[in-house]
Amino acid sequence: MEKPMNIVILTGAGVSAESGIDTFRAGTNGQPSLWEQHRIEDVATPEAYARDPDLVLRFYDMRRAAIQTKAPNPAHLALARLDAAWPGHVTIVTQNVDDLHERAGAHGVIHMHGEHLSAWCATCDTRTRWTGPLAGRPPCPACAAPTLRPDIVWFGEIPYRMDDIQAALAGADLFVSIGTSGAVYPAAGFVRLARELGAATLELNLDRSQGSAWFDETRLGPASEVVAAWVDGLLG
Ligand code: APR
Repeated sequence: MEKPMNIVILTGAGVSAESGIDTFRAGTNGQPSLWEQHRIEDVATPEAYARDPDLVLRFYDMRRAAIQTKAPNPAHLALARLDAAWPGHVTIVTQNVDDLHERAGAHGVIHMHGEHLSAWCATCDTRTRWTGPLAGRPPCPACAAPTLRPDIVWFGEIPYRMDDIQAALAGADLFVSIGTSGAVYPAAGFVRLARELGAATLELNLDRSQGSAWFDETRLGPASEVVAAWVDGLLG
């Protein structure tokens, strides 16, 4: 029997756009893009947190509350369908910090940039599922210190689970990138790594991305359509 194909899928903000969650780099007319009216550097760096923790905590409280009002779209649902039905391994690596892949039913999703619904204690290093606000400095459930921060990988911090991602890429027959601009490393480099390791590469995105040239094939369109069509084609 032929060995089933192993698939590694990298998702970015584009997969959640049709659920009503802003992408990061949607600036128009040459203006720098704003993320919920903030420059990314003012809210998504350790320096920003050190300078103005209240602003950063309030910003993430707002985002954490917002994602809980959103629902998975047909792209998340299609990937969960593939995850459940595909005979080989499917590894979903996401740069997104929402939980829409999980709410669609996907399992074992690797959140390389952290998760909104997790809080990390700077005192005892414990991570706790968290759905409410952090700006009021609630005590850590493990050590009671008022030092919980969003469990988000900020610019300048090291993404999570790089060893697991590397291992998945090494075993991949197909690497698929969905809804990401290819602007942020190390995720933007996965396509080249996957190619070097022998995988075929496919990009599904609304527009051509910075990394499009590296893919064997690019299919353009909204994720809800192109991802669903790709999965339907695979599952027959
Ligand atoms: N369907 C498919 N793709 C879409 C859609 C859609 N409906 N809407 C937008 N896109 C595409 C855009 O064309 C763009 O290429 O999604 C991509 C979104 O790019 P970014 O906003 O840069 O998001 P992402 O690539 O996920 O950003 C990476 O940057 O700020 C950091 O940590 C943050 O994880 C994030 C990382």
